[in-house]
Amino acid sequence: RVTNKTKAILIGYPANPTGAVMSKEKLSQIAEVARRHQLLVISDEIYARLVYGVEHTCFATLPQMKENTILLGGFSKAYAMTGWRIGYAAANKDTIAAMTKIHQYTMLCASIMAQVAATEALKSGEASIAEMVEEYNRRRLTMVKGLNDIGLSCFEPRGAFYAFPSIKGTGMTSEEFAERLLIEEKVAVVPGSAFGQCGEGYIRCCYATSLADIEEALSRMKRFVDKHRKA
Ligand SMILES: Cc1ncc(COP(=O)(O)O)c(C=O)c1O
Repeated sequence: RVTNKTKAILIGYPANPTGAVMSKEKLSQIAEVARRHQLLVISDEIYARLVYGVEHTCFATLPQMKENTILLGGFSKAYAMTGWRIGYAAANKDTIAAMTKIHQYTMLCASIMAQVAATEALKSGEASIAEMVEEYNRRRLTMVKGLNDIGLSCFEPRGAFYAFPSIKGTGMTSEEFAERLLIEEKVAVVPGSAFGQCGEGYIRCCYATSLADIEEALSRMKRFVDKHRKA
């Protein structure tokens, strides 16, 4: 709901925690709302390079959106540089000037080492991204099939490195499911409720780990679900 207090629309696709990718048509509808109400769109596209069989649309490429989008990105995901603290924002000059005022007095800067590594990643990282996307795709297919086979129904995520299956059939809350799975089977997932009320009844499973670990986790999850399945 847009009110006279609304300043911006925040979106993030490919999405954490669901792995959903929004189509160009749907994004265009959001752009239309932003144009009509003269709103900025803050678009977190940190998973832009991790899509499987679909295309990612950069929000700023939509008509009139270049000037009205704050595009957020980073190196953590496509280049596996989590923890290196390198990210970026691209927006119109006035917005960046306002952001810089706050940023320069609240942060020092990204470390030189991480900046040099990021430059190198941009220069020669393309082949590694292609290789990893193929590998993530294998893991994604294994995880989605495995979860559905266990009875944790899961739509096919087309981006990022997460699957978001339903655990409603188990009768547990997502927090209860995640905690008991961790204690009983040493498998870590994130309760969907950590992402807001709509996430209750779901868990986030991350496939940014080896195929062997994913297969082991799935067999432990099967044992866990079979044990607790409601009669
Ligand atoms: C949607 C989204 N945006 C931004 C980030 C931030 O990544 P980092 O702090 O590693 O740059 C994450 C990390 O999980 C994310 O999922």
